[in-house]
Amino acid sequence: MQRQMSGPRAPRQSLARARRLAVAPMLDWTDRHCRYFLRLLSRHMLLYTEMIVAQAVLHGDRARLLAYDPAEHPLAIQLAGSDPEPLARAARIAADWGYDEINLNVGCPSNRVQRGRFGACLMAEPRLVADCVQAMRAAVALPVTVKHRLGIDERDSYGELVEFVGHLSEAGCDAIIVHARKAWLRGLNPKENRCVPPLRHDWVLALKRDFPALPIVINGGIQTLEHAQDFLKELDGVMIGRAAYRQPWILAEADRLIFADDGPTPSRRKVLERLIPYAERQLTQGIPLHAITRHLLGLFQGQPGARAWRRLLSTEAQRPGAGVEVLRAWLNPERRIGSQAA
Ligand SMILES: Cc1cc2nc3c(=O)[nH]c(=O)nc-3n(C[C@H](O)[C@H](O)[C@H](O)COP(=O)(O)O)c2cc1C
Repeated sequence: MQRQMSGPRAPRQSLARARRLAVAPMLDWTDRHCRYFLRLLSRHMLLYTEMIVAQAVLHGDRARLLAYDPAEHPLAIQLAGSDPEPLARAARIAADWGYDEINLNVGCPSNRVQRGRFGACLMAEPRLVADCVQAMRAAVALPVTVKHRLGIDERDSYGELVEFVGHLSEAGCDAIIVHARKAWLRGLNPKENRCVPPLRHDWVLALKRDFPALPIVINGGIQTLEHAQDFLKELDGVMIGRAAYRQPWILAEADRLIFADDGPTPSRRKVLERLIPYAERQLTQGIPLHAITRHLLGLFQGQPGARAWRRLLSTEAQRPGAGVEVLRAWLNPERRIGSQAA
């Protein structure tokens, strides 16, 4: 593909703002039910789908893969692939479904993903990744971003990272999200690759100095909004993964602290009350309650009643035919926890 010089696409103002805080794409975790729940904690942060293989978008069950609730906006879709043309077609379909950003996965180290020649192994092929970015940008009017690592295997010097990011920047990539550790493609499984290679946040800060015009989002090991605020002094955004999933309540202050929105901070009770009508709608479509409540395990983390809450979700909420009365009963002030924990 002909390489053209093109400046960063002016992001919709609101998306550049939303990017200040994002919840990471997490396979099997950030499905649509999880995202709906997280959206109740912050109106402004950017949410990401799980990784979706471009070929699946083209040939699979689109309603199952792509459907989401309008409340989830701003919402980015993460695609996986390494062939520019199908990626461009998948991006166009995603744009038609109303997603706000197209993100390319260049960070997943799993064997399955490597066999498909996508994910982190693409860090060894910066020109190909740049071609993918260009093809997707030509296909859609949305920002096209890339989530990647610091390096892979022996290809792990700062100079090689700069070369990789240089190709993305030249291809017009609208933002990069950098998981601030390398990946070992041989020898470590995906879980180990999220904790064994050391974090190098300093490299992401250095990238911003080397590419000041390129929006850069840092990811990896960030546990609190206070830590995120520190990075926001120098970077364009912070992406939080596991901490947001396991202790979602850390996001409850995001609108105030990160987005200067002084609207009311939600209470746990309000969040549950707002989730009930959603769960009711999903139940009528045959979705079991557990598909939604499995993402709520951490809601009362550190609160009185946290253990009883988790027990409720792993027993009553999992019973066949369980309905929203499980959640309503929890909220009932006569029950021990309702008023205290919410
Ligand atoms: C269960 C799980 C699934 C993940 N799936 C994806 C994925 O689909 N795409 C992706 O780019 N990263 C994926 N990741 C990596 C996260 O997006 C993130 O980069 C990583 O967890 C580091 O951030 P953290 O320390 O804030 O969790 C996954 C992580 C976890 C824990």
